[in-house]
Amino acid sequence: MKIITSIAEMQQVARVARREGGRIALVPTMGYLHDGHASLMREGRRRGELLVTSIFINPTQFGAGEDFDSYPRDFAGDTVLAAAAGVDLIFAPTPREMYPDGYQTWVDVAKISLPLCGAGRPGHFRGVATVVTKLFNAVQPDVALFGKKDFQQLAVIRRMTADLNLPVEIVGMPIVREVDGVAMSSRNAYLSAEERQHALCLSRALTRAREMYRQGGNTPAVLQAGVLAVLGAESGVAVEYVEFRHSGTLEEVATVGDDTLLALAVKIGKTRLIDNCILGEEN
Ligand code: PAF
Repeated sequence: MKIITSIAEMQQVARVARREGGRIALVPTMGYLHDGHASLMREGRRRGELLVTSIFINPTQFGAGEDFDSYPRDFAGDTVLAAAAGVDLIFAPTPREMYPDGYQTWVDVAKISLPLCGAGRPGHFRGVATVVTKLFNAVQPDVALFGKKDFQQLAVIRRMTADLNLPVEIVGMPIVREVDGVAMSSRNAYLSAEERQHALCLSRALTRAREMYRQGGNTPAVLQAGVLAVLGAESGVAVEYVEFRHSGTLEEVATVGDDTLLALAVKIGKTRLIDNCILGEEN
Protein backbone atom coordinates (compact mmCIF):
# COMPACT_ATOMS: atom_id res chain seq x y z
CA MET A 1 0.00 0.00 0.00
CA LYS A 2 1.42 3.34 -1.08
CA ILE A 3 1.43 6.44 1.15
CA ILE A 4 1.49 9.85 -0.51
CA THR A 5 1.76 13.16 1.33
CA SER A 6 2.14 15.61 -1.58
CA ILE A 7 -0.83 16.97 -3.56
CA ALA A 8 1.24 17.15 -6.77
CA GLU A 9 2.26 13.48 -6.48
CA MET A 10 -1.32 12.46 -5.70
CA GLN A 11 -2.56 14.31 -8.80
CA GLN A 12 0.13 12.62 -10.91
CA VAL A 13 -0.89 9.14 -9.68
CA ALA A 14 -4.57 10.01 -10.34
CA ARG A 15 -3.72 11.19 -13.88
CA VAL A 16 -1.97 7.91 -14.66
CA ALA A 17 -4.83 5.82 -13.20
CA ARG A 18 -7.37 7.75 -15.26
CA ARG A 19 -5.29 7.49 -18.43
CA GLU A 20 -5.28 3.73 -17.94
CA GLY A 21 -9.08 3.82 -17.70
CA GLY A 22 -9.35 2.93 -14.01
CA ARG A 23 -12.10 4.37 -11.81
CA ILE A 24 -10.84 6.06 -8.64
CA ALA A 25 -12.79 5.56 -5.40
CA LEU A 26 -12.08 7.83 -2.42
CA VAL A 27 -12.92 7.35 1.25
CA PRO A 28 -12.09 10.63 3.03
CA THR A 29 -11.31 10.20 6.75
CA MET A 30 -9.64 11.90 9.67
CA GLY A 31 -8.03 8.62 10.71
CA TYR A 32 -8.37 6.59 13.91
CA LEU A 33 -10.14 4.16 11.64
CA HIS A 34 -12.82 1.71 12.79
CA ASP A 35 -15.22 -0.79 11.23
CA GLY A 36 -17.45 2.03 9.99
CA HIS A 37 -14.57 3.29 7.84
CA ALA A 38 -13.77 -0.30 6.80
CA SER A 39 -17.33 -0.73 5.47
CA LEU A 40 -16.84 2.40 3.28
CA MET A 41 -13.52 1.03 2.05
CA ARG A 42 -14.95 -2.39 1.19
CA GLU A 43 -17.69 -0.69 -0.85
CA GLY A 44 -15.08 1.60 -2.43
CA ARG A 45 -13.07 -1.51 -3.36
CA ARG A 46 -16.10 -2.79 -5.32
CA ARG A 47 -16.56 0.52 -7.11
CA GLY A 48 -13.02 1.53 -8.10
CA GLU A 49 -9.88 0.06 -9.62
CA LEU A 50 -7.80 2.47 -7.52
CA LEU A 51 -9.05 2.75 -3.93
CA VAL A 52 -7.70 5.77 -2.08
CA THR A 53 -8.36 6.74 1.52
CA SER A 54 -7.33 10.13 2.80
CA ILE A 55 -6.23 10.58 6.38
CA PHE A 56 -6.18 14.24 7.32
CA ILE A 57 -7.34 15.81 10.57
CA ASN A 58 -8.67 18.98 9.03
CA PRO A 59 -7.98 21.94 11.34
CA THR A 60 -10.46 24.23 9.58
CA GLN A 61 -13.52 22.20 10.58
CA PHE A 62 -12.77 22.49 14.31
CA GLY A 63 -13.92 25.57 16.21
CA ALA A 64 -12.01 27.34 18.97
CA GLY A 65 -12.15 25.18 22.10
CA GLU A 66 -13.07 22.02 20.14
CA ASP A 67 -11.04 18.82 20.15
CA PHE A 68 -8.56 19.36 17.29
CA ASP A 69 -5.50 18.92 19.55
CA SER A 70 -6.85 15.87 21.35
CA TYR A 71 -8.48 14.19 18.32
CA PRO A 72 -7.33 10.53 18.50
CA ARG A 73 -4.49 9.57 16.18
CA ASP A 74 -3.02 6.16 15.29
CA PHE A 75 -1.45 6.25 11.85
CA ALA A 76 0.26 2.85 12.23
CA GLY A 77 -3.04 1.19 13.23
CA ASP A 78 -4.83 3.00 10.39
CA THR A 79 -2.45 1.57 7.79
CA VAL A 80 -3.18 -1.97 9.04
CA LEU A 81 -6.97 -1.50 8.89
CA ALA A 82 -6.82 0.23 5.49
CA ALA A 83 -4.62 -2.51 3.98
CA ALA A 84 -6.96 -5.21 5.31
CA ALA A 85 -9.94 -3.39 3.75
CA GLY A 86 -8.24 -3.38 0.34
CA VAL A 87 -7.01 0.23 0.15
CA ASP A 88 -4.32 0.79 -2.53
CA LEU A 89 -3.13 4.20 -1.45
CA ILE A 90 -3.31 6.45 1.60
CA PHE A 91 -3.24 10.17 0.89
CA ALA A 92 -2.03 11.84 4.08
CA PRO A 93 -1.09 15.47 3.49
CA THR A 94 0.18 17.76 6.25
CA PRO A 95 -1.87 20.83 7.31
CA ARG A 96 0.80 22.99 5.64
CA GLU A 97 0.43 21.09 2.36
CA MET A 98 -3.34 21.66 2.41
CA TYR A 99 -3.31 25.20 3.81
CA PRO A 100 0.01 26.87 2.93
CA ASP A 101 0.81 30.42 4.01
CA GLY A 102 -1.46 32.87 2.25
CA TYR A 103 -4.35 30.42 1.92
CA GLN A 104 -7.67 32.32 1.66
CA THR A 105 -10.27 30.38 -0.35
CA TRP A 106 -13.37 28.77 1.18
CA VAL A 107 -16.33 26.73 0.00
CA ASP A 108 -19.50 27.80 1.79
CA VAL A 109 -22.65 25.75 1.29
CA ALA A 110 -25.27 28.18 2.55
CA LYS A 111 -28.65 27.10 3.89
CA ILE A 112 -28.21 23.38 4.48
CA SER A 113 -25.12 24.04 6.65
CA LEU A 114 -26.98 26.23 9.13
CA PRO A 115 -29.28 24.02 11.28
CA LEU A 116 -28.43 20.99 13.46
CA CYS A 117 -24.63 20.68 13.92
CA GLY A 118 -24.13 23.89 11.94
CA ALA A 119 -25.97 25.86 14.63
CA GLY A 120 -23.75 24.61 17.47
CA ARG A 121 -20.54 24.51 15.40
CA PRO A 122 -20.44 27.69 13.30
CA GLY A 123 -17.93 27.39 10.45
CA HIS A 124 -17.70 23.61 10.78
CA PHE A 125 -19.32 22.80 7.42
CA ARG A 126 -17.36 25.53 5.67
CA GLY A 127 -14.22 23.70 6.80
CA VAL A 128 -15.66 20.34 5.71
CA ALA A 129 -16.84 21.58 2.30
CA THR A 130 -13.50 23.28 1.67
CA VAL A 131 -11.35 20.29 2.59
CA VAL A 132 -13.55 17.82 0.69
CA THR A 133 -13.29 20.03 -2.42
CA LYS A 134 -9.52 20.11 -2.02
CA LEU A 135 -9.39 16.33 -1.50
CA PHE A 136 -11.49 15.85 -4.65
CA ASN A 137 -9.06 18.09 -6.57
CA ALA A 138 -6.07 16.15 -5.28
CA VAL A 139 -7.42 12.62 -5.71
CA GLN A 140 -9.73 13.21 -8.73
CA PRO A 141 -12.16 10.47 -7.64
CA ASP A 142 -15.00 9.13 -9.78
CA VAL A 143 -16.82 8.10 -6.62
CA ALA A 144 -16.50 9.16 -2.97
CA LEU A 145 -18.03 7.36 -0.02
CA PHE A 146 -19.27 8.91 3.23
CA GLY A 147 -21.03 7.44 6.28
CA LYS A 148 -24.61 8.38 7.12
CA LYS A 149 -23.77 8.87 10.80
CA ASP A 150 -22.68 12.36 9.76
CA PHE A 151 -25.96 12.78 7.91
CA GLN A 152 -25.78 16.55 7.59
CA GLN A 153 -22.19 16.36 6.36
CA LEU A 154 -23.35 13.97 3.63
CA ALA A 155 -26.22 16.31 2.70
CA VAL A 156 -23.85 19.31 2.55
CA ILE A 157 -21.40 17.38 0.35
CA ARG A 158 -24.18 16.21 -1.97
CA ARG A 159 -25.45 19.81 -2.31
CA MET A 160 -21.95 21.15 -2.93
CA THR A 161 -21.15 18.47 -5.51
CA ALA A 162 -24.36 19.21 -7.42
CA ASP A 163 -24.05 23.01 -7.14
CA LEU A 164 -20.41 23.07 -8.31
CA ASN A 165 -20.94 20.37 -10.99
CA LEU A 166 -18.16 18.28 -9.49
CA PRO A 167 -17.81 15.09 -11.55
CA VAL A 168 -17.92 12.80 -8.50
CA GLU A 169 -20.60 10.30 -7.54
CA ILE A 170 -21.39 10.64 -3.83
CA VAL A 171 -22.33 7.41 -2.05
CA GLY A 172 -23.88 7.43 1.45
CA MET A 173 -23.30 4.27 3.45
CA PRO A 174 -25.35 2.91 6.39
CA ILE A 175 -24.33 3.64 9.98
CA VAL A 176 -22.24 0.83 11.46
CA ARG A 177 -23.09 0.09 15.10
CA GLU A 178 -21.44 -1.82 17.93
CA VAL A 179 -23.41 -4.92 18.97
CA ASP A 180 -25.11 -2.91 21.73
CA GLY A 181 -26.32 -0.26 19.27
CA VAL A 182 -23.80 2.55 19.83
CA ALA A 183 -22.87 4.10 16.46
CA MET A 184 -19.17 3.68 15.65
CA SER A 185 -17.21 6.91 15.91
CA SER A 186 -13.56 7.79 16.45
CA ARG A 187 -14.77 10.06 19.28
CA ASN A 188 -16.13 7.05 21.23
CA ALA A 189 -12.48 6.65 22.31
CA TYR A 190 -12.98 9.66 24.62
CA LEU A 191 -15.72 7.92 26.66
CA SER A 192 -14.99 6.42 30.08
CA ALA A 193 -16.56 3.00 30.78
CA GLU A 194 -19.41 4.72 32.62
CA GLU A 195 -19.97 7.29 29.85
CA ARG A 196 -19.95 4.49 27.27
CA GLN A 197 -22.94 2.98 29.15
CA HIS A 198 -24.73 6.35 29.09
CA ALA A 199 -24.10 6.55 25.31
CA LEU A 200 -26.52 3.66 24.80
CA CYS A 201 -29.37 6.13 25.28
CA LEU A 202 -28.86 7.58 21.78
CA SER A 203 -29.74 4.40 19.87
CA ARG A 204 -32.43 3.65 22.47
CA ALA A 205 -33.98 7.07 21.81
CA LEU A 206 -33.98 6.45 18.05
CA THR A 207 -35.67 3.08 18.57
CA ARG A 208 -38.28 4.71 20.82
CA ALA A 209 -39.06 7.35 18.17
CA ARG A 210 -39.44 4.72 15.44
CA GLU A 211 -41.78 2.70 17.67
CA MET A 212 -43.91 5.77 18.39
CA TYR A 213 -43.98 6.57 14.67
CA ARG A 214 -45.09 3.03 13.78
CA GLN A 215 -47.81 3.31 16.43
CA GLY A 216 -49.19 6.45 14.75
CA GLY A 217 -47.20 9.34 16.27
CA ASN A 218 -47.07 11.80 13.43
CA THR A 219 -45.87 15.15 14.74
CA PRO A 220 -42.34 16.23 15.63
CA ALA A 221 -43.56 17.48 19.04
CA VAL A 222 -45.02 14.11 20.09
CA LEU A 223 -41.99 12.11 18.99
CA GLN A 224 -39.58 14.67 20.42
CA ALA A 225 -41.20 14.26 23.85
CA GLY A 226 -40.63 10.48 23.63
CA VAL A 227 -36.99 10.95 22.61
CA LEU A 228 -36.33 13.52 25.35
CA ALA A 229 -37.87 11.17 27.94
CA VAL A 230 -35.34 8.46 26.99
CA LEU A 231 -32.37 10.85 26.90
CA GLY A 232 -33.48 12.66 30.07
CA ALA A 233 -33.67 9.38 32.01
CA GLU A 234 -29.92 8.94 31.59
CA SER A 235 -27.72 10.83 34.04
CA GLY A 236 -24.84 12.89 32.66
CA VAL A 237 -26.39 13.39 29.21
CA ALA A 238 -26.86 17.00 28.06
CA VAL A 239 -29.07 17.29 24.98
CA GLU A 240 -27.89 19.71 22.27
CA TYR A 241 -30.68 19.01 19.80
CA VAL A 242 -33.42 16.55 18.88
CA GLU A 243 -34.79 17.50 15.48
CA PHE A 244 -37.05 16.13 12.78
CA ARG A 245 -36.17 17.30 9.28
CA HIS A 246 -36.74 16.46 5.63
CA SER A 247 -33.99 13.97 4.80
CA GLY A 248 -33.15 15.61 1.45
CA THR A 249 -33.30 19.34 2.20
CA LEU A 250 -32.90 19.23 6.00
CA GLU A 251 -35.83 21.66 6.24
CA GLU A 252 -38.16 21.42 9.24
CA VAL A 253 -41.29 19.32 8.80
CA ALA A 254 -44.75 19.87 10.27
CA THR A 255 -45.64 16.18 10.18
CA VAL A 256 -43.31 13.23 10.09
CA GLY A 257 -43.22 10.48 7.45
CA ASP A 258 -41.19 7.47 6.36
CA ASP A 259 -38.43 9.66 4.92
CA THR A 260 -38.15 12.05 7.87
CA LEU A 261 -34.71 12.35 9.44
CA LEU A 262 -34.49 12.27 13.23
CA ALA A 263 -31.13 13.75 14.21
CA LEU A 264 -29.72 13.88 17.75
CA ALA A 265 -26.70 15.54 19.33
CA VAL A 266 -25.78 15.18 23.00
CA LYS A 267 -22.82 15.80 25.25
CA ILE A 268 -21.73 13.09 27.63
CA GLY A 269 -19.09 14.59 29.87
CA LYS A 270 -16.81 16.41 27.44
CA THR A 271 -17.68 14.20 24.47
CA ARG A 272 -20.12 15.36 21.83
CA LEU A 273 -21.95 12.48 20.13
CA ILE A 274 -24.40 12.50 17.23
CA ASP A 275 -26.71 9.84 15.85
CA ASN A 276 -29.69 9.71 13.52
CA CYS A 277 -32.22 7.55 11.75
CA ILE A 278 -34.78 7.78 8.98
CA LEU A 279 -38.10 7.02 10.66
CA GLY A 280 -39.30 4.54 8.03
CA GLU A 281 -36.00 2.64 7.88
CA GLU A 282 -34.62 -0.05 10.16
CA ASN A 283 -31.00 1.10 10.82
O1 PAF B 1 -16.13 12.72 8.32
C1 PAF B 1 -14.92 13.01 8.39
O2 PAF B 1 -14.09 12.22 8.83
C2 PAF B 1 -14.46 14.40 7.95
O3 PAF B 1 -15.41 15.36 8.26
C3 PAF B 1 -14.07 14.46 6.47
C4 PAF B 1 -15.23 14.17 5.56
C5 PAF B 1 -12.93 13.47 6.21
C6 PAF B 1 -13.55 15.87 6.13
O4 PAF B 1 -12.48 16.23 6.95
